[in-house]
Amino acid sequence: MNIAEEITRRATEVEAKIHPFMPEGPGLQQTVLDAMDYSVFAGGKRLRPILMEASFQMFGGTTDAIMPFMAAIEMIHTYSLVHDDLPAMDNDEYRRGKKTTHAVYGEAMGILTGDALLNWAYETIAAAIVQYPGDARLGRAFAVLAKKAGVFGMVGGQVVDVESEKKGQQVGQEKLDFIYRLKTGALIEAALMIGAILAGASEAQVDQMEAAGTRLGMAFQIQDDILDVTSTFEVLGKPIGSDGRNEKVTYVTFEGLQKAKEDVQRLSEEAVAILEGCAGEHTFLRELFRFLIHREK
Ligand code: IPE
Ligand code: IPE
Ligand code: MG
Ligand code: MG
Ligand code: MG
Repeated sequence: MNIAEEITRRATEVEAKIHPFMPEGPGLQQTVLDAMDYSVFAGGKRLRPILMEASFQMFGGTTDAIMPFMAAIEMIHTYSLVHDDLPAMDNDEYRRGKKTTHAVYGEAMGILTGDALLNWAYETIAAAIVQYPGDARLGRAFAVLAKKAGVFGMVGGQVVDVESEKKGQQVGQEKLDFIYRLKTGALIEAALMIGAILAGASEAQVDQMEAAGTRLGMAFQIQDDILDVTSTFEVLGKPIGSDGRNEKVTYVTFEGLQKAKEDVQRLSEEAVAILEGCAGEHTFLRELFRFLIHREK
């Protein structure tokens, strides 16, 4: 398997799967419908739906109910980026190689587009729960998605991230770990857990996927920090030096580039080791985890 090609193939497939779950106009609120489309189909890596589907396949999943969950997690992730880029937060002008949503549609529409994407994700899941009334796994998967997106998940991490930018704030190892585990790790954990839940995996197996997700998510965010200083706008599709401009304490400023790179490697291998301890065919997931260690975008 050529892992880079396989990831690209899966990302293209994910886009086709997400499409039918997007809201359709026309309507007087057309602007927000257009902005939702603009932000979701701007060309992200689709990592979270890819992880979800791969975990689902690993545990032998068969239900079509995986698809609305794949769409929903990408909608939630995209909303988190739209809001993350707002002037009040990271104030970034480019994302996924294009102008950020607020830069194109204005700040108010940027806020509303994020709100709409988050809500539409939940509308999508609610419709799936109605469509598959006999399947209790959907409710469990929904509970995980909602929690990992919220105040004890991604939002909670973003809160501490933003607060840590304030001058004179002490950001130690413990706080940095908290921020990364939540702002980035939580949705990656959710992706792996939901794939397992919908495939009918046991609670112990779901816990293992969560533990793998914690390490992978941490590695993923450290690599994001590394790329913020080592990459280029052309490759990354978003501004480099954003963290420096915001005077953010990152893993790189805290630990140095070398240690950051070593930790990406170590955490990713820990995630692989957890996978190896699970039953099921996990070649693709393992190769994906390893591919991400050296990702350039
Ligand atoms: C960016 O996520 C934000 C972080 C959590 C580091 P991705 O790097 O997955 O962004 P896209 O979806 O590919 O644009
Ligand atoms: C964002 O972290 C994580 C989110 C939950 C959106 P960053 O602020 O480092 O992400 P980028 O670099 O803008 O993608
Ligand atoms: Mg941010
Ligand atoms: Mg940002
Ligand atoms: Mg970043």
